[in-house]
Amino acid sequence: QLAPIRFDNQVAIVTGAGGGLGRSHALQLAARGARVVVNDLGVARDGTGGGQSPAERVVEEIRAAGGQAIASAASVTDPAAVEQMVAQAMREWGRVDILVNNAGFLRDRSFSKMSLDDFRAIVDVHLMGAVYCTKAVWEIMKQQNYGRIVMTTSSSGLFGNFGQANYGAAKMALVGLMQTLGIEGEKYDIRVNCLAPTAATRMTEELMGADALALLTPESVTPGMLWLVSRDGPNKTVLCAGAGTFSRSHITLTDGIHIGERPDAAELLAANAARLADRGGEIIPAAGFQQSQMEVTKAREAKG
Ligand code: NAI
Repeated sequence: QLAPIRFDNQVAIVTGAGGGLGRSHALQLAARGARVVVNDLGVARDGTGGGQSPAERVVEEIRAAGGQAIASAASVTDPAAVEQMVAQAMREWGRVDILVNNAGFLRDRSFSKMSLDDFRAIVDVHLMGAVYCTKAVWEIMKQQNYGRIVMTTSSSGLFGNFGQANYGAAKMALVGLMQTLGIEGEKYDIRVNCLAPTAATRMTEELMGADALALLTPESVTPGMLWLVSRDGPNKTVLCAGAGTFSRSHITLTDGIHIGERPDAAELLAANAARLADRGGEIIPAAGFQQSQMEVTKAREAKG
């Protein structure tokens, strides 16, 4: 018998929770005892429009099931509106334990055809949206000595995807944000993780066949999010989740080769490309300093 993961007496904010993955996340957090701020601006798939927020509907679903929730139509790209959303949560419930940064939209085109405005809009909603929301809860979590934050990244950022230069850049930036916030939050028991989902939502409904879409339910991803934001959850983890399959993605450092400063260093490097890529002795650095530490150590060893 596994101990149930519960969120009683905790307060969670889920952005972009009017549909798709966010809705599934909000429903599950509420079903497991959390009081949930259901945020959604209610925009189209490309970020246009808005006004009628689908957040209210999800709040009604949660209440009908006996849970507690409030709706917020704040845009995650508006720092003042985000501050107000967090202030509302504090007025209602007095704390914020969990933030799931999930809101976003797409503006896909090949890089040649992509306008700078479309690049900026995607960086703004995925990266800066998560920054504004995280900034708004950070001091609260520090004072509570407790917080769990999830950034929603993507395989498009981790591994690349044709037509998504803007989206991939923004999603990978969230991994970088996690790496440092995971370090800065540690002594306050604030843990920061990334979720790389695959799910049949309006974002992906045209990209995959019906068979695959039937397996890729948002509900099969949400358990991954629940683990990441749980009391005993990890820190600085990139969890990939889809169709009930879970895996982890790592940023690693190969053991490398020391060449030293010499006139033919570039040529030696080219000749040793295979050794450079060799994954024997590869590590997952806990922080950035480990790279320079390895470099300096190898240089000292070479000097004897
Ligand atoms: P979705 O389009 O159903 O959900 C996104 C929600 O965010 C929408 O309800 C939308 O109204 C809301 N939103 C957009 N801009 C907003 C803003 N400025 N402020 C507040 N809310 C806003 O799509 P889905 O698939 O559920 O996406 C959720 C997250 O998962 C996104 O961050 C997406 O990039 C990410 N993701 C999804 C994948 C998938 O396979 N569905 C794959 C990888 C990542």
